[in-house]
Amino acid sequence: MTSRKGIVMSGIRPTGYLHLGNYFGAVRNYVRMQDEFECYFMVADLHSLTTHPDTSQLKDNIHRVLAENIACGLDPDKVALYCQSHVPETAELYLYLNMLSYVGELERTTTFKDKARSQPDNVNAGLLTYPVLQTADIIIHRASYVPVGKDQEQHLEMCRNFANRFNHRFGEIFPEPVAFNFGEDLARIPSLDGKGKMSKSENQYATIYLSDGDDLIRKKAMKAVTDSGPVEPNSPKPEIIENLFGLMRLLGTPANVQHYEDAWNNCTIKYGEFKKQLGEDLVSFVSPIRIKAEEIQADKQYLKDIMIKGAEKANHSAQKTMKLVREAMGLNYY
Ligand code: TYM
Repeated sequence: MTSRKGIVMSGIRPTGYLHLGNYFGAVRNYVRMQDEFECYFMVADLHSLTTHPDTSQLKDNIHRVLAENIACGLDPDKVALYCQSHVPETAELYLYLNMLSYVGELERTTTFKDKARSQPDNVNAGLLTYPVLQTADIIIHRASYVPVGKDQEQHLEMCRNFANRFNHRFGEIFPEPVAFNFGEDLARIPSLDGKGKMSKSENQYATIYLSDGDDLIRKKAMKAVTDSGPVEPNSPKPEIIENLFGLMRLLGTPANVQHYEDAWNNCTIKYGEFKKQLGEDLVSFVSPIRIKAEEIQADKQYLKDIMIKGAEKANHSAQKTMKLVREAMGLNYY
């Protein structure tokens, strides 16, 4: 692959079905970037082991994530689409970076604190060093751009710190990677119940998955939490209402959005009707992806070929970087 505009890297954990947050925070940009950049996109199976030690579903989940990425428009011929564990050099770089990261800063990471709270019986060292492994994923390809959602901002900041520390200690090998969304704020797709964001494993009834059937999507949309409605014309929208409008703006037609904006502004909005329209917009968006992803997922040979081809591209890039890393660190003894 030739790099005209820079190197891109990103990843998704195979801890459940993908949802609209994964799409608008990550996969949509993967697809937008695939023609212009040298891209490395992977399924973060090693990261999933920090929270999901039971691997009985892992293979199916990996196949599903690959299939969903392709169903969303990612072309495995244009990018390296691979599994994290198929690039063993990542583990080597992770080890070296662990010597450059401090327990105090890792303990202060928001995701570590959240996970330590939610799984108190399994506060493993992998959980603590999660951002170090993520850094290895990114810089092993010497990537500059990382398309991710808002929740990954802190991990990217840590990644820049670790990369800079390496450069200061051993020589300038790595660019400073930035979280990327075409100059816009990073996306955060909220859940439909006004409590947090859409998520693979929490808030499942308030999250729209790319695997959801049409009727389930309609039901979820109708259950979206609203308020008692506007009482004064042209009043600002409370967050839960603005969130639903935000979704409609992403998926619906401008004419429909305008219709409901006007209805909000003149206090005639009927939430039942609004949510019904939102449900239809969601169905039109999700159902072609679901159908395509199911077809792809059933073709195990195709998925195997993709993983092999993706690993070849990623290995080539990782091996080049690790040669530079070992030399810079003085680990080349002959
Ligand atoms: P993960 O698997 O939680 O999420 C995958 C991608 O989806 C984005 N995302 C969202 N964006 C907007 N709104 C939401 N509600 C929402 N939920 C999830 C995430 O920001 C992410 O871009 N640590 C990473 C996986 C990873 C990685 C990497 C990412 C491992 N190595 C290297 C980038 C580069 C994670 O857990 O993502």
